[in-house]
Amino acid sequence: MRSIAVVGVGYVGLVTGACFADLGNKVVALDIIEERVENLKKGILPIYEPGLSEIVARNVDAGRLSFTTSYEEALAEAEFVFICVGTPQGVDGEADLQYVRSAAESIAQTMDHSLIVINKSTVPVGTGDWVSDIVRETQSHPIPFSVVSCPEFLREGSALVDFMNPDRTVLGSLDQDAASEVAHLHLPLRAPIVITDLRTAEMIKYASNAFLATKISFINEIANICEALGADVKEVAVGMGLDKRIGRFFLDAGVGYGGSCFPKDVSALKHMATVQGKHPQLLQAVVDINGFQRKIVVNKLRELLGDDLSGKTIGLLGLAFKPNTDDMREAPAIDIAEILFEAGAKCKGYDPVSMKHAAQMMPNVVLCNSPYEVAEGCDALVVITEWNEFKNLDMERIYTAMKRPIIIDGRNIYEPEMMTEHGFTYRGIGRGYNGASGVELPSNGRTGVTQTS
Ligand code: UDX
Repeated sequence: MRSIAVVGVGYVGLVTGACFADLGNKVVALDIIEERVENLKKGILPIYEPGLSEIVARNVDAGRLSFTTSYEEALAEAEFVFICVGTPQGVDGEADLQYVRSAAESIAQTMDHSLIVINKSTVPVGTGDWVSDIVRETQSHPIPFSVVSCPEFLREGSALVDFMNPDRTVLGSLDQDAASEVAHLHLPLRAPIVITDLRTAEMIKYASNAFLATKISFINEIANICEALGADVKEVAVGMGLDKRIGRFFLDAGVGYGGSCFPKDVSALKHMATVQGKHPQLLQAVVDINGFQRKIVVNKLRELLGDDLSGKTIGLLGLAFKPNTDDMREAPAIDIAEILFEAGAKCKGYDPVSMKHAAQMMPNVVLCNSPYEVAEGCDALVVITEWNEFKNLDMERIYTAMKRPIIIDGRNIYEPEMMTEHGFTYRGIGRGYNGASGVELPSNGRTGVTQTS
């Protein structure tokens, strides 16, 4: 059993602390927000993440996990301290490192024995060296420490699964002994461990997220071309994904990516390149395509309802940036609602989980308690987040409730012919057949992709 401190009890810190406790370690998790710590002591979590409340409660009850606002308490017995604070997007896309600085300074001021300081927050390349300088300069007297980069690869909504079943653990340090100490901490996860230097580990994180975002913008560009040529991007993705060099994941076309990571990390990587005199043309294209996907949904509404959307009522199904989370940071729904509001349309919206955040972040949207309430009197429904509960709605009831039976499927969760059979005018993203391309459905319906093996 090792003794671990975690600084920052948000999406990454709480998952990291709870999972390391569940692996049998003693974890003290610290946050400077007193209310957050008091709530955690009462079992109230600051975030929605499936399974997290159970694993936190289990480990608090077992005495392996506790919460504090005191660095003295957090570091008292710690061998490792994970920095898991936020690194929000700052000016010109540069990551804002004020919280990392504050954590490093507090650790340096408080530590009274040697520590391995582990950067888990997503930080620009070179931050590990910067943290080392801060700790060394802040210590009142020299105390041995090492810095290790250990980037996270957790997806919101599946963070526990991703932590306990990583594809790989990436570690970077100038102190290989420290790196191997941290590697031992991760051995129970039984995944490949990549040990490299600080800057390379930091770049692996950015390059990974930027590549995943690139994959999404790539399939969205293909979707837009499919639409013009009458091909179905969902079936293109199946055909592509069977190539092991490509893989099926992150080839789902739609209204584009959001969340607290991809937008911020791609911008930060672009910024890093730019300040070094490099020109991130591909990353810029990834950002541009992603922004355009939001507009595509509104263009389809204009195609079907007329250019002037003023006075029209549009229903938004799903507001969180993705399913199984309440997080609305950079959510496509926010941009889409804003464009519609500026066009004079009235928006109604529903999300199974993120309504509290939606009330704050989407003041112009009338929030409803169910998809059916959203559909009432709507000129069109737009699927923005692919929650499972939207996949089996009573479409007769939806049809009857709507003023016009128009569905824009921003995540391609429905099958076109089924929607047509229900009497809807249906538009997906890149589904090929839609009116704009004038491509007619084959008389016998879609052939679909059959995988023989
Ligand atoms: C991402 C990375 O996956 C994770 O490794 C990293 O540590 C943090 O950032 P997250 O942002 O939580 O995780 O969610 P993810 O499932 O990656 O989805 C990101 C966005 O891409 C969502 O808005 C999602 O809707 C969108 N997306 C994802 C697509 O539009 N198409 C896809 O095929 C996959």
